[in-house]
Amino acid sequence: MLRIEGLGHRYGAGAGGSASADDGTEALRDIELTDPKGQLLTIVGPSGCGKSTLLRCVAGLVRSTSGRITLDGVPVDGVPERLGIVFQDYSRSLFPWLSVRDNVALPLRRHGLGRAERHTAAARMLEQVGLAGAARRA
Ligand SMILES: Nc1ncnc2c1ncn2[C@@H]1O[C@H](COP(=O)(O)OP(=O)(O)OP(=O)(O)O)[C@@H](O)[C@H]1O
Ligand SMILES: [Mg+2]
Repeated sequence: MLRIEGLGHRYGAGAGGSASADDGTEALRDIELTDPKGQLLTIVGPSGCGKSTLLRCVAGLVRSTSGRITLDGVPVDGVPERLGIVFQDYSRSLFPWLSVRDNVALPLRRHGLGRAERHTAAARMLEQVGLAGAARRA
């Protein structure tokens, strides 16, 4: 279960040598959210409302300036195990010099899987999303 309590984030807080409360850009304020295990959660809102900031905080990529996030009761203070994230800008999340299969297989290195196992798992995932053909061509 994902639980978010009183989450706030301000970019650039305290920058420029001033301690004013108006510093920086307030991206999130007092976010409260509970997402039970197994539920699909969609966050929608206008551009700039803080969706990416919220996801970065949940993913442990940004340390929020206030509040608390827990995943199955464990505070998120780094990138949680088993987390997957697809960034909005694919040019930053894919390596153009790697094949489709090798891009998908890359994170599995962290889990200590051997080359053959990584390739088998990547092929299975690509098949699931209808991209098996792309992997064969790459
Ligand atoms: N790295 C940053 N430094 C300073 N301000 C930022 C940074 N990233 C985002 N912001 C600001 O924080 C606010 C929330 O931005 P965020 O990117 O989280 O919104 P978003 O809902 O994901 O927008 P979009 O729909 O355009 O992706 C905006 O005012 C944005 O300008
Ligand atoms: Mg965004």
